[in-house]
Amino acid sequence: MKRYVILISGRGSNMQALIEARLPGVCAGVISNRPDTAGLAWAAARSLPTAVVDHRAFPSRASFDAALADEIERRGGEFVLLAGFMRVLTESFVRRFSGRLVNIHPSLLPAFPGLHTHAAALAAGVRVHGCTVHFVTPALDSGPIIVQAAVPVLPSDTVETLAARVLAQEHIVYPQAACALLEGRCLLAQGRAVWCDEATPATLALRVPAGQAH
Ligand code: GRF
Repeated sequence: MKRYVILISGRGSNMQALIEARLPGVCAGVISNRPDTAGLAWAAARSLPTAVVDHRAFPSRASFDAALADEIERRGGEFVLLAGFMRVLTESFVRRFSGRLVNIHPSLLPAFPGLHTHAAALAAGVRVHGCTVHFVTPALDSGPIIVQAAVPVLPSDTVETLAARVLAQEHIVYPQAACALLEGRCLLAQGRAVWCDEATPATLALRVPAGQAH
């Protein structure tokens, strides 16, 4: 069984979805860059192996990333799933785990990279928003797309209602993508995310919740 680690910085709802999906692998650790996160407490309460690599204890991003990578490898982590991990990773870290490092981002990339994606989507007036699971490459939020899920943007939406609608889809597609990654059904090849079964991304992609489209 492949060993994976999940990196978090906060509430950890995507981490919970990944754990509850019983992925075809062994969780070698839930690692947080903050000691006091709700996600870490949730994982510890379920006897999952947890660790803290506190970024504030390191003088530079490079030294933090090196310690984080060492912690992952000490645990035998082969795959790294970023789940609300709020640190930008250095090129050296990204290259070390190339093809084995994925992230979930709360927008339909390449639209709205970075922070505050739901506010940006509302400000732009888009009718469709969503989330993206992608391989991580050195450029922020720009790696090859594994899968996306789309939701409608409703006239009555606030940042909170839109975020909740997207998050529900994150909790579905991230475990599906992680499962495919661990089973070798999806991989990074020549700068693209390649699915062995090419029908799969299409069947995962469009998720307009019943009763919410109009
Ligand atoms: C999610 O919206 C995820 O897409 C983004 O950060 C948020 C983390 O939420 N990268 P949670 O900690 O998984 O609940």
